[in-house]
Amino acid sequence: MAEEASSSQKLYVQPADAETYVKGVLEGNGVPAENAAIVAKCLVAADLRGVDTHGINRIPSYMARIRQGVLDARAQPTLQEVTPVVAQVDAHNAFGFVAAHMGMAKAIDMAKVYGIGMVSVKHSNHFGMSAWLGQQAIDAGMMSLVFTNSSPALPVWGGKEKLMGVSPIACGAPAGKEKSFILDMAPSVAARGKIYKAKRRGEKIPSDWALDAEGRQTDDPAAALEGVMLPMGGPKGSALSIMMDVFSGVLSGSAFAGHVTNPYDPSKPADVGHFLVAMKPDLFMSLEDFKARMDYLYQRCVGCEKMADVDRIYFPGEIEQITEETRRREGIPYVEAEVKTLDEEAERVGAEKVRVSSHG
Ligand SMILES: NC(=O)c1ccc[n+]([C@@H]2O[C@H](COP(=O)([O-])OP(=O)(O)OC[C@H]3O[C@@H](n4cnc5c(N)ncnc54)[C@H](O)[C@@H]3O)[C@@H](O)[C@H]2O)c1
Repeated sequence: MAEEASSSQKLYVQPADAETYVKGVLEGNGVPAENAAIVAKCLVAADLRGVDTHGINRIPSYMARIRQGVLDARAQPTLQEVTPVVAQVDAHNAFGFVAAHMGMAKAIDMAKVYGIGMVSVKHSNHFGMSAWLGQQAIDAGMMSLVFTNSSPALPVWGGKEKLMGVSPIACGAPAGKEKSFILDMAPSVAARGKIYKAKRRGEKIPSDWALDAEGRQTDDPAAALEGVMLPMGGPKGSALSIMMDVFSGVLSGSAFAGHVTNPYDPSKPADVGHFLVAMKPDLFMSLEDFKARMDYLYQRCVGCEKMADVDRIYFPGEIEQITEETRRREGIPYVEAEVKTLDEEAERVGAEKVRVSSHG
């Protein structure tokens, strides 16, 4: 979980105001209102969950892509049914959020009828935090797998050049009365967005996150961005990243093998691929039994004996769900420099600036 800036620097924004801001800027840049609302909801969902690296602070980099003509603000993804349980979305270089949202909605519809639905998405863009797709499935009562590939940031094991993406692996399952299961993890020691955030905020990073251009460990985010991210678990992390490329890039017909463009590089389209599966949880037993078993799993996990110095055990996704409850009450904290940068984007297109609330 990302650390917060010191309280003196925080400015609080209500989630609805953050969505209004994003919609205004996007529509001002030519994004159709319906698509702008989807992007706004996904970006604010990341900030609500404490995944600040993938929230509304991404707006300037996305708008730079639109202005540069490498992300098509007006594009409408199209959908093609391949079998009764398989479909493909061609994003036509629209926002990854819009294409993946359409893909997961179709996967859910197919799963409702046939038990499972699989959707491949091609020619897409960065879709931010994967967990919003897991939540989209959970909101429809479904289990899910959410894969994407991404731009080179990680070496394959034994290599020293950036080749594979820090491509997140996500999956979800609904529970009964306990917290739902949402695993959403990058296969690196830390997500690259955390390094961008540290750079933005003038903070240092832990020295085991990345190597600089000379292959030395570094705590300087700028030097880390010139070098490579370190995979989690050595060869296992780099293998998971290759797995994301197989399912999202190779299979879909999108860029793969190191050819996805970095979201901060506005020189050419990103051509990201995604792989989405929705599954009914009551395929092999009643829904009631499934949910009771999920609740039991949760209780067994969080109730197990703790190691020394651990106060509480969390289920995957639980810390983020707790953060969301707090931020829905108190607003989302940003730092002044971030709000200033966001306001500049609003000014460019005559949209409403970020409405900052006085309390936290
Ligand atoms: N779209 C992209 O190309 C892209 C690329 C990289 C990362 N991302 C996003 O960046 C985000 C951050 O990824 P990350 O790997 O840094 O996440 P993270 O390390 O903060 O969390 C990874 C997982 O571990 C769980 N977790 C964390 N701390 C825990 C604890 N103490 N106890 C129990 N569970 C715990 C979290 O709930 C989460 O499911 C993700 O939302 C990911 O989708 C997106």
